[in-house]
Amino acid sequence: MDGNGRWARSRGLSRLEGHRAGVENIRSVVEALGKHGVKYVTLYAFSTENWERPKEEVEGLLGLLEEVVDQQAAELHEQNVKIVHLGSLDPLPLHVRQSIARAQGLTCNNTGLVLCVAWNYGGRAEILEAVRRMIGDKVPVEQVNEVVFRKYLTTDGIPDPDLVIRTAGEQRLSNFLLWQTAYSEYYFTPIPWPDFGPDEVAKALGAYARRKRRFGTVTED
Ligand code: IPE
Ligand code: MG
Repeated sequence: MDGNGRWARSRGLSRLEGHRAGVENIRSVVEALGKHGVKYVTLYAFSTENWERPKEEVEGLLGLLEEVVDQQAAELHEQNVKIVHLGSLDPLPLHVRQSIARAQGLTCNNTGLVLCVAWNYGGRAEILEAVRRMIGDKVPVEQVNEVVFRKYLTTDGIPDPDLVIRTAGEQRLSNFLLWQTAYSEYYFTPIPWPDFGPDEVAKALGAYARRKRRFGTVTED
């Protein structure tokens, strides 16, 4: 979800107002994706590197998170969405961790779209944590394979992404789901996240539908 800051600047607003607009955009995008039959969505909301932003912005983002979790969870619950958090919640204040736990608890039996929210997530950190836990479990060397490794990732049970959409013109992965995106298709758009609406969702899925996925093999056409 990139481009909140630039979206705000182009309107003479503060960066935080851009982030607020970004949060408000989540519901309609998730709804549109659901209508197209998408079953799993992961939002990259805050990376392990985002802590390096100016203190004021980080505090603003934390405040915003605190403010919106309960309300967003209630709205998404109405859409039968199941919310799952990816990343480490350790640095967050107890009451924010509790509201995230509440959001997961409230929606855990929902049968609709699964919405993973990557907050304080980093792909490298996730892989290192998996390695640490495997060593902690004394997994025998001959059992270290892709099937076992996957179970140690925070995305255990969630299929690899078919499509990664990055908004706001940047063409890089920025430490997002490094292991899981090995064969994902990428879609880049110059549209900043707050303007990425249902029409843009349709465009991205249309582009995806025209891709030929070979997963390293060969096809006839
Ligand atoms: C993405 O918007 C939101 C977060 C990473 C929290 P940015 O804040 O990166 O917006 P730009 O890139 O400055 O426009
Ligand atoms: Mg950015």
